[in-house]
Amino acid sequence: MKPLVPTSDFPKRDDLIYLNAANVALMYEGCRATISDWYNDVAFNGSINFNESAETEVFDSIHDLAAQLFNVNPTDIAVGSSATELLSSLAWAIAPKKGENIVSTDIVFPSTIYPWQRVANTTGATIKLARGKDNYLDPDDIVKLIDQQTAVVCISHVEYGNGQLFDLEKLSDAAHAVGAFFIIDATQSAGAIPIDGNIVSIDALVCSAYKWLCGPFGVAIMYLNPKLQYNLEPGLVGFRSHKDMWKLDPRKIEYPDTAKKFEFSTMAFGCARGLEASIRYILDIGVKTIFTHNRLLTDQLIAGLIKQNAQIISPVNDKERSAIVTVNFQGCNSATLVQKLKHQQIFVSLRSNTIRFSPHFYNTKDDIGITLDHIRRLLKIIK
Ligand SMILES: Cc1ncc(COP(=O)(O)O)c(C=O)c1O
Repeated sequence: MKPLVPTSDFPKRDDLIYLNAANVALMYEGCRATISDWYNDVAFNGSINFNESAETEVFDSIHDLAAQLFNVNPTDIAVGSSATELLSSLAWAIAPKKGENIVSTDIVFPSTIYPWQRVANTTGATIKLARGKDNYLDPDDIVKLIDQQTAVVCISHVEYGNGQLFDLEKLSDAAHAVGAFFIIDATQSAGAIPIDGNIVSIDALVCSAYKWLCGPFGVAIMYLNPKLQYNLEPGLVGFRSHKDMWKLDPRKIEYPDTAKKFEFSTMAFGCARGLEASIRYILDIGVKTIFTHNRLLTDQLIAGLIKQNAQIISPVNDKERSAIVTVNFQGCNSATLVQKLKHQQIFVSLRSNTIRFSPHFYNTKDDIGITLDHIRRLLKIIK
């Protein structure tokens, strides 16, 4: 298997084996360089180059690129500082009322549900979480919770812990059958798993940049379905929320009738420019190609781990697996193994006493082979 990308695109790749994209991916070199150039320019030139018109247009390219990533329109994209920030603003905009409920799962990343919990604390809406059993969340258990009072179904496309991939169409159909909004957190999928906003009916999607998109901290994107763009009033507002931001009229906000209304403040603009470079790069390679590459890596990883009697916690069937592979070894403390791998310059995560591997397209079969060899050797010492 040939490396999918040149080592120079991820310069540290040669010094370590990094299987940790579900935590923070390696950053694409073009992204790093763009960010560095952008901040150098502002450090040395203030707003001489990054002037008011540049600030007005700063997200135009990222709107275009994110729209290509999700096969939607540029006007459906908003940029913010984090997935949590964008979701919080959206949760306050929708603000489910007393008597209504929000459906999610009890294995979801906390930031995907806390914003709704916060709104519900004020409005009196209720949160209903489908229960995971034996590290698996049966999607039918989510569907069963959806009723006529459901205002929002908000799930993570891929669960951060067990890597479970949800069938978006099934959940979207169930949400829409009762008139609820279907909202997804794509932080653990965008860039690694194709998402087509033209095929699946999603009302909104939020996504951080620093995982599978190989971008930086400090920027995130949101897709907002056109049918929500006119009526919703964002929970977070500022001078940028105005459709003519330099009007600087403190008496009245006039929102644009696009997803842009969720952009409200001065932020880490250089990071947004960097994310542009990462998304362009990922689009050039193709998300389908990345998906196939990562699947080959996880095939090899899962087969090698099973040979070493690992208990595979992640779903392994084709429809529900992702590039996150979480395992346990009986009689072996996961924290110790993660630590010992780190001493060998192999980086994975410890999550709830399990070992989470998350290879990405900069990894190779050799990376997986070497990791498996080390695990075999280390298990003999630890057990
Ligand atoms: C599914 C999911 N959503 C959101 C986040 C984090 O979002 P933020 O960057 O806004 O803190 C994570 C982080 O691990 C995550 O796994």
